[in-house]
Order: sequence, then C-alpha cells, then structure tokens
Amino acid sequence: MEHLLIEGGRRLQGKVSIDGAKNAALPACVASLLTDDPLVLHRIPDLRDVATALLTVSSLGKHVTRQGWTVKIARQGPLGEVPDSRYVEQMRASFLVLGPLLARLGHAVVPLPGGCTIGRRPVDFHLQGLQAMGARVEEGTDAVALRAERLRGAEIELPYPSVGATEHLIMTATLAQGETVIRNPAKEPEITDLISLLLKMGAQIRVEQDAIRVHGTDRLHGAEHTIIPDRLEAGTYLLAGAMTGGEVTVHGVVPAHLRSFLDVLRETHLEFSAGEDSITLISAPRPEPVHVVTAPHPGYPTDLQPPLVAFLSLCRGESRVEERVFERRFDYVPALNRMGAEIEVAGSTAVIRGVSDLDAAVVAAPDIRAGAALVLAGLAARGQTTVYQIEKIERGYSGMDEKLRSLGAQVERVA
Ligand code: UD1
Repeated sequence: MEHLLIEGGRRLQGKVSIDGAKNAALPACVASLLTDDPLVLHRIPDLRDVATALLTVSSLGKHVTRQGWTVKIARQGPLGEVPDSRYVEQMRASFLVLGPLLARLGHAVVPLPGGCTIGRRPVDFHLQGLQAMGARVEEGTDAVALRAERLRGAEIELPYPSVGATEHLIMTATLAQGETVIRNPAKEPEITDLISLLLKMGAQIRVEQDAIRVHGTDRLHGAEHTIIPDRLEAGTYLLAGAMTGGEVTVHGVVPAHLRSFLDVLRETHLEFSAGEDSITLISAPRPEPVHVVTAPHPGYPTDLQPPLVAFLSLCRGESRVEERVFERRFDYVPALNRMGAEIEVAGSTAVIRGVSDLDAAVVAAPDIRAGAALVLAGLAARGQTTVYQIEKIERGYSGMDEKLRSLGAQVERVA
C-alpha cells in the first residue's frame, strides 16, 4: 500500500510553487458542457479529482487533451445525458454536470454524489434551485433524473451559501430563459473564477452585494482561461513551515485570497510578508492560542481547519476551533491525540491544549485536508511517522512529498 514515511523534526525552509486551485478547476471542467466549442484551461493541477472530472466530461462526449498544465476540452460527439456513475460516485463535484446537461438536452440522469466522508453532504439546495427553474425532479435512491423542456430564470434564495449549489445554479442559469437571481450565494474566490470563465464564454452575469444575477442566453461559446492558484495548498505549506519553526515562501498565489487565514495566524503571533504573488512566513515563535470559527468566505475556510488544528496542537495555551460548515470534520483528531496532542472534541468544537512535542505514529488519512493535517503533525513530530491512504491526500495535493523535500523535509513516498 502506498504510504508516506516522514522523519519529523526538520525545519522547513525555502520556496514552493503553488498549483492551480482544485476547487476552481473542477467547475471549470464542468463548464465545458455548456458549449460545443473548445475550452482551453491553463494552470489545471495534476490531481486525482481533476482526472475524475475530466473522465466525467469525457464520458459525456468530450475529447480531452492535456499538455502540462493546459487542458483542452473539445466536442467529440453528441452530448451524453448520463455520466459514467463510477466518476460521480468518486467525487461530489461531478454532480454539477446535472444542471448543464439539463439546460442543453432537456433531460439528464445523474447518480447521487460521493466525495469526502465529512458529515452529511446533501444536494437539496441544488435540486430546489433547479426545480425553481422549472425542472421536474425524479429522485431515486441512487440517481436523480431531471426533465425540463426549457429552463426559465427564477428567484432563488439559498438557505446557506453553499459553494457547490451556487456554482451549479450559476452554470445552469447561463442557458435558461430570462433572469435568475441567486440570493445568499457563496462568494469563495473559486466562484469568482468560475464567473470570469463564464463571462469569457459569453454569459451575462452580474455580482451584487448579496446576490448573483444571471441573464440566460441561447448559446455560449468557447474560451481560454487561467485557473486561480490554490489558496488551500498555499495555506497548508505555510502551516508546514510554521509547525517546524521554519521560513517558507509560497509562490504564485493571490495573497488577498488568504486574508482570513493570515489574520488568524497573525493572531497567534506568526509574522508574514506578502508580495504581489507570494507570501513568506518570516517568523514562527511558539504560537499563542486563538479562538477560530470556520465560515463561508470571507470567513476562515473549513478546508484549512484540520491543518490549523494540527498547528495549534503545538501552541502555548488553550485554543478553540469551531467547525460551522460541515458536521463531522474532526475525524483526524484521534490520530493526532495518539501522536501526543491534547484535543477534545465536543459537538462542533475542538478544544486544543497545546503540548510542547508530538511523537511519531502510524496513521491513515481520513480525507484530503485531514490527511494534510496528519502530514503536518508528522513533519513536527519526533521520530518516523507513517501516513497510509495517501490516495485521499493526492485528491487535493499534487507532488506533496516532492514539494516538502524541496523545503528540506525528510519525506519518502513508498509504493
Ligand atoms: C466545496 C468545496 C470543499 C469545501 C466546501 C466548503 C469543491 C469541489 N469543494 O464543497 O472543498 O470544503 O465547499 O467551503 O469546491 N449543504 C446542504 N445542502 C446542499 C448543499 C450543501 O445542506 O444542497 C450544506 C453541506 O452539507 C455543508 C454546507 O452546506 O454543511 C456547505 O457545503 P458546500 O458549500 O455546498 O460544499 P461543497 O460545494 O460540497
């Protein structure tokens, strides 16, 4: 079984380049279904989840070619109405194909999605939104079938600013008749990136204070677009530097996308300097405790919650981290505690009593970000940590072992 062997205790130092954002690349691949023209997407990360998204659109009649970080998605044959269920089951983001297929074909059948096991992750907001636009939903036990001769614009108020539902409804609305207003939308940088791609494809979208207005058109055309850098990958490497008392620069980032993350870390007394497209961690004293609540953008991102908790396990006093986005996102805590951390989880709050050292252990990655948290703990721990189930980590981080080695870590990926 593939695993990582990490000899902890090395101080990380140096520069690391950040890839394109997984969570922006996935909807961009799906957006290819909105047109018959080719989409050329730059800075597409080489990740398992992206490969799954590309296989999903290939299973729907697209021809995909990749050259380095550039992916071209062109028409191969007629648009299919049922994606290969294997890909949708593997990854929740594949569910986003439902609305675009419905808008193009008038009907679509998509299996219910899989993805990380981080609590209940329903798709009710997606379906309610599509229904408001005139779709008739037949929800089975393991697939959703939708029908609509012509989707029409609608007023949709999201009960919660869901990232996936916002993306799904914006994409679908670009080809509906008339205007759709999505109130209480998510505002993550990945959504702004999707909107800029759709605008290049000819969509009419206006972002307002607390609403997104989409004026449907009959047809979208091809476009060329560069995906934003991955703020979650950048945050993870900055924390890896912080946990090892190091000095790490992340390159090719948009510092503004990491504002709430940096604000929290500055509260712990870490110091950073931000350039135009880089952030350097310049000093990492033993951190002071903080109280953090995860929230939709511009709040502290839930995906950087597990790496933050790993970091806080080595802080001075008692920190509290409240997880308000997902129900179950502390699966990695028992493993961290086996490494010597003192973390207690009650409901959606983790209370972290800082310890001065962590010890190596044999652990398994529960999901992408929880896996990253365990790798960070291994980098700071005394002795050799083994991390199994690294395929989960590799859904969201490409070449993590190489990147960490380039910063001076002793990490080996064993096949
Ligand atoms: C996306 C990101 C994921 C990130 C999450 C929150 C991608 C591919 N994934 O996931 O990395 O952790 O945003 O920033 O971009 N909900 C419902 N009903 C719905 C939809 C969502 O109740 O129909 C709830 C979820 O259970 C969850 C919350 O809303 O508690 C947020 O989920 P959402 O923002 O939709 O996350 P994803 O789009 O799945």
